[in-house]
Amino acid sequence: MPTSYQRMLSKSLEERCNRILRDMECSQTARDRVGIQDFVLLDSHTSESAFLDNLRKRFNENLIYTYIGTLLVSVNPYKELGIYTKKQMDIYMGVNFFELPPHIFALADNVYRTMTSESSSHFILISGESGAGKTEASKKVLQFYAVSCPSTRLLDSVRDRLLLSNPVLEAFGNAKTLKNDNSSRFGKYMDIQFNYQGAAVGGHILSYLLEKSRVVHQNRGERNFHIFYQLLEGGEEDLLRWLGLEQSSQKYAYLVQGACAKVSSINDKSDWKTVRKALSVIDFSEKDIEHLFAIIASVLHIGNVHFEAGTRGYATLNSNEEIRWLSKLLELPPHVLREGLTHRKIETKAEEVLSPFTVDHARYARDALAKAIYGRTFTWLVNKINESLANKDSTRKTVIGLLDIYGFEVFEVNSFEQFCINYCNEKLQQLFIQLTIKSEQEEYEQEGIEWEPVVYFNNKIICDLVEEKHRGIIAVLDEECLRPGGATDLTFLEKLEAKLSGHPHFVTHKLADQKTRKTLGRGDFRLVHYAGEVTYNVTGFLDKNNDLLYRNIKDVMRQSKNTIIQQCFPASEPDNKKRPETVATQFKNSLAGLTEILMSKEPWYVRCLKPNDSKQPGRFDDIMVRHQVKYLGLMEHLRVRRAGFAYRRRYEVFLKRYKALCPDTWPNWRGTPAEGVKCLVKYLGYKPDEYKMGRTKIFIRHPRTLFATEDAFDVCRHELATRIQAKYKGYKVKEDFLRQKEAATKIEACWRGLQARKERDRRAWAAKVIKKFIKGFTNRNQPVGVDNSEYLTFVRQSYLQRLRDNLPTSVLDKQSWLTPPPVMQEASALLQKLHTRYLVRKYVQGLTAERKAQLKIKALASDIFKGKKESYPQSVARPFASTRISEQDMNTRVLQLMGTESMKYSVPVIKYDRNGFRPRYRLLILTKKAAYLVEETKIKQRVDYKSMKGVSVSNLSDDFLILHVTCEDIKQKGDLVLQCSYLFEALTQLCMVTKKRNLVQVVQGSVKFDIQPGREGVVDFKSSSEFMVYRAKNGHLMVESARAKSR
Ligand SMILES: Nc1ncnc2c1ncn2[C@@H]1O[C@H](COP(=O)(O)OP(=O)(O)OP(=O)(O)O)[C@@H](O)[C@H]1O
Ligand SMILES: [Mg+2]
Repeated sequence: MPTSYQRMLSKSLEERCNRILRDMECSQTARDRVGIQDFVLLDSHTSESAFLDNLRKRFNENLIYTYIGTLLVSVNPYKELGIYTKKQMDIYMGVNFFELPPHIFALADNVYRTMTSESSSHFILISGESGAGKTEASKKVLQFYAVSCPSTRLLDSVRDRLLLSNPVLEAFGNAKTLKNDNSSRFGKYMDIQFNYQGAAVGGHILSYLLEKSRVVHQNRGERNFHIFYQLLEGGEEDLLRWLGLEQSSQKYAYLVQGACAKVSSINDKSDWKTVRKALSVIDFSEKDIEHLFAIIASVLHIGNVHFEAGTRGYATLNSNEEIRWLSKLLELPPHVLREGLTHRKIETKAEEVLSPFTVDHARYARDALAKAIYGRTFTWLVNKINESLANKDSTRKTVIGLLDIYGFEVFEVNSFEQFCINYCNEKLQQLFIQLTIKSEQEEYEQEGIEWEPVVYFNNKIICDLVEEKHRGIIAVLDEECLRPGGATDLTFLEKLEAKLSGHPHFVTHKLADQKTRKTLGRGDFRLVHYAGEVTYNVTGFLDKNNDLLYRNIKDVMRQSKNTIIQQCFPASEPDNKKRPETVATQFKNSLAGLTEILMSKEPWYVRCLKPNDSKQPGRFDDIMVRHQVKYLGLMEHLRVRRAGFAYRRRYEVFLKRYKALCPDTWPNWRGTPAEGVKCLVKYLGYKPDEYKMGRTKIFIRHPRTLFATEDAFDVCRHELATRIQAKYKGYKVKEDFLRQKEAATKIEACWRGLQARKERDRRAWAAKVIKKFIKGFTNRNQPVGVDNSEYLTFVRQSYLQRLRDNLPTSVLDKQSWLTPPPVMQEASALLQKLHTRYLVRKYVQGLTAERKAQLKIKALASDIFKGKKESYPQSVARPFASTRISEQDMNTRVLQLMGTESMKYSVPVIKYDRNGFRPRYRLLILTKKAAYLVEETKIKQRVDYKSMKGVSVSNLSDDFLILHVTCEDIKQKGDLVLQCSYLFEALTQLCMVTKKRNLVQVVQGSVKFDIQPGREGVVDFKSSSEFMVYRAKNGHLMVESARAKSR
């Protein structure tokens, strides 16, 4: 039974194969037109013509990229193709190499993904001759990473700096040559650093040998470095004025030699804007920028410094204006500058002497200064950019290196610079050979894989010719440079001829045969490079190799206040006494260093081809391309690829990566790695012709086999990751849970402890308080002291609080006043008094006038009767009326009889005859002056108050009253015996009207009364069970009254 892995693997393999077949079929018809995408699939892979045909077909269809396996061949289209858009980048992101048409993005993506998945470092070697498109290719790769790599806000700034370092370096290091309008005049190797997540986190740039001679001299049709033209074209008026520059490049000696300041393909103005913006992004301070521009301007001013021969033949300097600007821009005293430009310091044993220059010498020194200033500023610039790209954290990073170096170039006259540039290309070709064709073949041999060797040209012989110790061209050149006395460029040539005569790749006029001699000048030597023959003219070789700058001009520069110049000419620089390494040796060493850097990384190649020499779009020059195909070794590479295997890995590495795909090898394989791999590929179902087992490595022939395995691994990795993730999550959650539980227990324990301590303290406090309370209580009657003061305060407070809540609400309530504790007795009494007063006042203030009058009269009644007459208490609650019969109800006759005396009070009464005691209903009317007894319309008796002696009532419950009058006249009627239902009211009204308070006498038992003067009657009062009035046998009027119920 096949396992799920096998099923999945075979399915994805099948799908992939089907797709490839389908694609192939689809493109079968198209292929005739557009050629094939990978030269490996070319039928006649050994035929150069077929190779060229394919390239041409594709070029004509604007398909500039073609693979040879994983190597990318690119042909410069010299026109915009619209294939580098963001959309294109998206298409190529994360897609397998061979699934889409060849593209620089596909290569970049593949490098990136290999780097992230294998955590290894890589480099992309971009080669080709000048103008073939190397710099463009390297920019496209960088742009692709800028868009495709994961990023954060922080990393965006790294990305921007990486991207913007390009225009700055190009402005200072590129120039228009005859071969290329934007030719790199320095070598550049850029490391892009990635963190473990695949994000670009930093970078580093190494620069190689800038062609400084261009600063002071350009061939016809060429320009100086772009930056000079950009500054003049794009610089704002203010800036140019400040720099003492005029907008026209024609004014500057260093810019006019090539006679082509303006080039249609170059827009200096807009490039200036880009550079200006880039400088700020890459952390250049305004001060730095100002100093940098000052330096560019001063190079132009230096170029315009003019010397003339003085009377003694020495150089004199007339360019006052230039010196003034130079002194301002370089912040140097003008006389120092003048002296530096016209004199040289010679050291004798005893002293230093100033020796004046001849005009030629002065010009030489001037140009040397300009070159030195520019060259050193360029190095400063690279360092500064590196500072801004540096990633400071020390975590492990993987790297993708981009190598974009000046391409192989041949001009009509080739000098020291071309020699260095072409030597550099020679070295890179050697590296390419070593890493590809040679190493590949050696590897098959070593691994014991059957193999038919491919013959190729190894350019090591040329590299040796240039760099070999003691015999090589550089060694001879250095020797001549160091030789004291008489050494010239020509003696150098002679030395070369002596040493290298007979070398198959070296020829001079003297060494050449008849035919060749015609093509060589006397001062020339010719090298047969891997890329073709180049004739070098030796003029200037020694000087350029020495690159001398007089010591005193260096001293002058050290006095500058311009901070960049200060850094470029440090005081610590070793002086001339110790000779510095020559330029060629420095370059040779730096290339050796570069080779070392590259050897430690995995290589990828882009081979750029130039379709024609006239920078024209759509023109495919067969001869020219064929030549490049040849010297770049593309045919050999194709043959090796075709016969070889697309992929190989050490058994350990292969097993380590893919062991999860087979149950027998997962998680650990016990046997040897080779056996493990054998078991693994058997399980994966590799066919015998798809792979080979070497001594230490497995070789896989087709990429598709590997892709299928990769796909299966991808799926498996996800499953494994999910499992590991689940386990890890479980572990994490459990760990979290245990941590939380422990924390909870700890918190609980602490909390409980805290609570318990609080409770203990509370209880201790309570016990203390209770004890104090008890002590206070037992000592409550002692004088106030420590033992009882708090208790007493508490008692006081609590009594007062209780009292406040329970105060009596009525004056009459005498009972509910709280009994005070002993300490509060006095206060309580005072408070009670106060409170009573308060209640009284409140009561009094609440009284109406009527009620007040009523109460006054009641108070009078109380004075008279309270405690004296038995029935009085029953009367208290009954209100008194002001009269019982109103004036309106009164008989008008009676009122008339009373005359002017107005009635004050009237009440119905029963009058008992003085004789016989017959009861008669009468009305008792009180006026201001007298009391009238009225029977209907008649006034029966008028008793003037003056004659009224008093009124007697019994102390019992009856309602009898006896009105005593003074009886002087016999005709006058005697005392009145009356019965009145409103006894208390009527008598009180009487007292009020008469204003005699003690008019009423309460008597016990009997009351005597005058019937007429001298004749008395008696009324006896007695209590009984019911009320009765009758004439007793003794002739007295007996009044029995029912005993009043006590209230
Ligand atoms: N892929 C491309 N698409 C469009 N134009 C291109 C492309 N590649 C190169 N070119 C054109 O060719 C010119 C030269 O290319 P580039 O500067 O990259 O050459 P180079 O190989 O770096 O040369 P050198 O060795 O002189 O620096 C570019 O300025 C551009 O106009
Ligand atoms: Mg370039």
